[in-house]
Amino acid sequence: MADEAFQRSADKMRERGMSELSINQFKNVYHEWRNDAQGAWIREHDVEPLTDVPSFHDVYATIDHTKAINAFAKTAFLKLNGGLGTSMGLESAKSLIPVRRHKARQMRFIDIIIGQVLTARQRLDVALPLTFMNSFRTSDDTMRVLHRNPAFVQRDIPMEILQHQEPKIDAETGEPATCPKHPDLEWCPPGHGDVYASIWESGLLDTLQSKGFKYLFISNSDNLGARPSRTLAQHFENTGAPFMVEVAVRTEADRKGGHIVRDTHTGRLVLREMTQVADEDKAAAQDIVKHPYFNTNSIWIRIDALKEKLEQYQGVLPLPVIRNYKTVDPTDDTSDKVVQLETAMGAAIGLFDGAICVQVDRMRFLPVKTTDDLLIMRSDRFHLTDSYEMEDGNYLFPSVSLDSRYYKRINDFNERFPYSIPSLAAANSVTIHGDWTFGQNVAFYGDAVLEDQDRPSYVPNGEFVGPQGV
Ligand code: UTP
Repeated sequence: MADEAFQRSADKMRERGMSELSINQFKNVYHEWRNDAQGAWIREHDVEPLTDVPSFHDVYATIDHTKAINAFAKTAFLKLNGGLGTSMGLESAKSLIPVRRHKARQMRFIDIIIGQVLTARQRLDVALPLTFMNSFRTSDDTMRVLHRNPAFVQRDIPMEILQHQEPKIDAETGEPATCPKHPDLEWCPPGHGDVYASIWESGLLDTLQSKGFKYLFISNSDNLGARPSRTLAQHFENTGAPFMVEVAVRTEADRKGGHIVRDTHTGRLVLREMTQVADEDKAAAQDIVKHPYFNTNSIWIRIDALKEKLEQYQGVLPLPVIRNYKTVDPTDDTSDKVVQLETAMGAAIGLFDGAICVQVDRMRFLPVKTTDDLLIMRSDRFHLTDSYEMEDGNYLFPSVSLDSRYYKRINDFNERFPYSIPSLAAANSVTIHGDWTFGQNVAFYGDAVLEDQDRPSYVPNGEFVGPQGV
């Protein structure tokens, strides 16, 4: 039965012109999901904590800065840009949302990324190719921006590789989901772990090698901290490691998230997601002192090592499945329940002997997952420098919690801040309950709270909002 249901998905993929390689990739995750593979658990007694990871500052002190340019000149950039930003109510590229004004221009994530790369090219006289991995939903818009930017020229190396697509699966029957009103919604990108198969099929590694590149730096397009770094390039080259993950120290807020551990049997580092943790190990896995590091999804890879690995697995790395339960139409909670079968890029760390981690701080990890994050990024906590770096005095951010009924979707969020983002300079935390719209030059201070008035409410121009509200 399961096989027949899978075949119907495979046929649907062939009809849409998908490659056999992408069907093989989908087959792996489909069967893992169908068999509800319990073997995927990573038990506490089989791992040891990852400790003593060198920090960026340790590394900075050890490298020869006059040489660092050499390793950096052999590095290419790849930005993961295929996600649909559903956590912000988007069905398109998050990187096209404006983040802030700079020199009288609205800067989107993509403009900041390009600005960072062009600055590095110019100041350091390096080629630094930049390739985006797009999905069928993000490609057109992203490529339009790239082609319209006369300063961003890149002839020999593709600006884009296109990731695969796979059918969303009916969570109960395992059949390919249907959505007759919007057939496009029957499809989704298979997670950022798809980057390896997409790179493989695109021939990008050969192209890069033929131009003398040795290292690939891959990061999320929604992490504005993942900027070019000579120091990390040189450190990576010095270690000779095949694979290096930038990790950050877990805080209370990251307790329930994935973390990196060492497999005591193989000696390899492994990305352990909470879904791979058995009940009896939950307390240990959530202990942020015992297991201090999480993956920021910024990864350095030696191109020759990746090529060898992909050859070994014929283009499809065996990565554990992530089950993402949603509705077929993400804007309609009553539509059919589906599962999207995904894999994570960072999980590949477990396939490389000699993989390492380096600890970075918030300067290199500025993710925008929700509109709560976007509020901080758009606020006066940050300054966008002339080299397009998001700078803040100390990178200690207020914790922000906006009422998801009114602010979760980007359009709702924008409507409620029609003039400007209130100042967060003196805020420790911001909690908004209810439907508040903000006038100009509003400032939050201390632990600012706004209570629900059970009706749309307005914070007037120039108001201060603190622990007692307006
Ligand atoms: P996330 O999964 O954290 O975010 O992707 P998302 O997909 O953008 O947003 P949600 O979860 O739907 O709200 C991290 C990075 O990986 C990229 C995203 O574009 C983002 O830069 N990504 C994600 C891909 O390139 N392809 C995918 O299939 C999934």
